[in-house]
Amino acid sequence: MHFHKYEKIWLAFGILSLVVFLSIVGVTAFAHGHEPSGGLDTIDPEKVNETAPFDNPGVRQIDEDTYEVVAVAKAFGYDPQEIRVPAGKEIIFTITSTDVVHSFTIDDTKVNMMAVPGRITQKSYTFKNPGTYLILCNEYCGTGHHYMSTEIEVYE
Ligand code: CUA
Repeated sequence: MHFHKYEKIWLAFGILSLVVFLSIVGVTAFAHGHEPSGGLDTIDPEKVNETAPFDNPGVRQIDEDTYEVVAVAKAFGYDPQEIRVPAGKEIIFTITSTDVVHSFTIDDTKVNMMAVPGRITQKSYTFKNPGTYLILCNEYCGTGHHYMSTEIEVYE
């Protein structure tokens, strides 16, 4: 009788642990699939193209004074091809890579971000002056490394 009671307690403990474990896994999976940005720092590099926000790279306005640029670095270029943002507004860059380590470095600015497969990197920057800025890859990433660049147009 006494033995039986202990077995029940252990069984209950086991089930409880399983429930807790599954909840954590479930919540984590949900957060990764649905949270648009912020607070996220890991991503499955094989599923970048289908994981928000990278399933739709580009510029989006978050509020009156804030924009987000979602970009994917890959050998040997960046998605999207065309980036246009306003001067004088906060721009949050959200970057990842689908293959190897690249960088997302904007010439003449303090934006020098690592683009690492499996990781999401974010940086906020406000352009003072309009113009066309060069985006370069500063991490050696293979034969096309020296050609890996794009431009960002900052409008008034
Ligand atoms: Cu990409 Cu160097």
